[in-house]
Amino acid sequence: TRKPLIAGNWKMNLNHLEAIALVQKIAFSLPEKYYSKVDVAVIPPFTDIRSVQTLVDGDKLLLTYGAQDVSRHASGAYTGEVSASMLAKLGCTYAVVGHSERREHHDETDEIVGKKVRAALKNDLTPILCVGEPLDVREAGDHISHTTTQLIEALKGLKTEQVADIVVAYEPVWAIGTGRVATPADAEEVCAALRSALTEKYGAELAAGVRVLYGGSVKSGNIAELISCENVDGALVGGASLDGDEFTKLCAMAA
Ligand code: 13P
Repeated sequence: TRKPLIAGNWKMNLNHLEAIALVQKIAFSLPEKYYSKVDVAVIPPFTDIRSVQTLVDGDKLLLTYGAQDVSRHASGAYTGEVSASMLAKLGCTYAVVGHSERREHHDETDEIVGKKVRAALKNDLTPILCVGEPLDVREAGDHISHTTTQLIEALKGLKTEQVADIVVAYEPVWAIGTGRVATPADAEEVCAALRSALTEKYGAELAAGVRVLYGGSVKSGNIAELISCENVDGALVGGASLDGDEFTKLCAMAA
């Protein structure tokens, strides 16, 4: 019932010319019939989004796109920030919020992440809310409480119908960019726990409809076993999303 989502987080890679080339490559390589079985999104740097929009609109591509971050503020004197309404105007479907790299390098707390979730929802963007534990937390066996707390804290104050519109991404920090993918059992354990936390707070019906993605060293070679897990509804892909052939293969495997 939950349609899988494969979202390619390009991080701080590819200028707008390279973005055009990669989107064209994906559009050329992935036949349209796949899009009825899997939602495909690219998440480029802000500076690429207008070019991606022009291409997607002009060629009527079925690919969707989003931003890697969004300001918690609506508008005003916030130098360097990009608002959710600006992203919505550019046709973005998604905004990634609370990626571990932003939590780590930009001091984003659950409270800030929560404000970003609200800013995105207010502008009809689907937040892809990232949670995940660092290695020491995993080794201490506290990964479930760590990730479910991150989730519930960021959703504080939202109405139940708003929570229905989010996507959750479980990205264990120790698996990001390391080539050390979580085992399907590890991914399933946490994704199931995140869904249970949503059930407890917002009810089973809502929780059953929310997509929970896995992220961390996902490739075309391991997506099949991850996505076969009951509670894993797709992937947030970093490195493997920068290569058109590899990303296309990965999307096709998830369909
Ligand atoms: P990698 O796929 O490069 O490990 O990155 C995962 C990630 O952080 C996606 O948001």
